[in-house]
Amino acid sequence: MCWFIQTFKSSLGKKYIMAITGFLLGGFLLVHALGNSSVFWGGEAFNSYAHHLHSMGPLVPLFEICLLAVFCLHIITAGYLFFENRAARGSQYAVQTSAGGRTWGSKTMPYTGIIILLFILLHLVNFHFPEKTVEKPISVFVVEVLHGPQALLYLIGLAALLLHISHGFWSLLQTLGISHPKYDQPLRVLAWILAGFMGAVFILVTLLVLFCKSYLAI
Ligand code: HEM
Repeated sequence: MCWFIQTFKSSLGKKYIMAITGFLLGGFLLVHALGNSSVFWGGEAFNSYAHHLHSMGPLVPLFEICLLAVFCLHIITAGYLFFENRAARGSQYAVQTSAGGRTWGSKTMPYTGIIILLFILLHLVNFHFPEKTVEKPISVFVVEVLHGPQALLYLIGLAALLLHISHGFWSLLQTLGISHPKYDQPLRVLAWILAGFMGAVFILVTLLVLFCKSYLAI
């Protein structure tokens, strides 16, 4: 535990915690996006995918606890870094350190982070907590939520997610030392391609259900 507190106390340690937790959350998102893409094959495919996941027994709550812990660590560390940076900017030793310059993604990180947090809370209330039954499977909940005005909130949340992970992925590469002024631009493009892929799947699912609810009919 002592090593963890030491890591948390140093700025570089916090950057590593952000990189590792961000990587794990990105991994979850990629798997979630691939799982959600089963919507493209209709309601039955989507329900059988969700059923398959839930049939993994005690692995499911174990995974959920780990995901929650990683998520909390990411947010708490981000909060510490935010206030530390703000305090440093107020001091006479302030330096503007952002390799590769400030972008929309980097400038808005705390705000897109808050939007994503609110989005996830809404998302869990929508899909995770309600009880699913044979008569009312998960696809019915998805139609109820996304085939209506809430789809707009989802699109706002997903736009924030796209911006957040595009910078997050680039920043992760920086922390791991994978950076060189010559390759800044291609690395940024790579970050956008990865973020774009995940964002595109989630946004397409939302638009598909918004405009064509019969797609998920079973
Ligand atoms: C169109 C977009 C999305 C759809 C249709 C969707 C669908 C779902 C569904 C149906 C569940 C519940 C699974 C179940 O309990 O049976 C779920 C859980 C979850 N989703 Fe999403 N999701 C979307 C986007 C996202 C995004 C962008 C994030 C994160 C930023 C996210 C994070 C989560 C989390 C954390 C859970 C709970 C996981 C668990 O309990 O194991 N989802 N999603």
